[in-house]
Amino acid sequence: MKKTLIFSLLCLTALPLLAQSRHKKTPVDPDDAYKNNCMRCHAAVQEYSPAKTATIVMHMHVRANLTEEETQAILRYLQDTPVKPAAKQHTEKPETNQTTD
Ligand code: HEC
Repeated sequence: MKKTLIFSLLCLTALPLLAQSRHKKTPVDPDDAYKNNCMRCHAAVQEYSPAKTATIVMHMHVRANLTEEETQAILRYLQDTPVKPAAKQHTEKPETNQTTD
């Protein structure tokens, strides 16, 4: 008797806590969204230009049954991932400020 009461009370208090902690940071974690959805059917997704990526994600949005939030998160995630390694940006010309005096 007492045990069941305590147990149900625990459940009632614990559930909202669990639910909250999952949604604390960002509503949708792009990395998670990508892995949970795209990796279901693809081992690794090839990288395309941002324009193509947008089309692809819109198409996969239907295939993967993504929410609008997930779609946007994945789109940003994929488009932010540079196609080429963008390590060196300050090489080449050390562009001096061309301000006209
Ligand atoms: C339900 C399974 C499924 C899911 C989930 C899925 N795809 Fe696909 N994807 C496919 C299939 C099947 C194709 C082949 C083209 C077609 O028939 O649509 C494809 C094709 C592609 C292509 C073009 C071909 C290639 O392999 O390079 C890309 C890029 C792609 N998917 C990216 C994604 C991304 C990004 C996600 C996550 C948002 C995703 N897919 C989620 C099934 C899926």
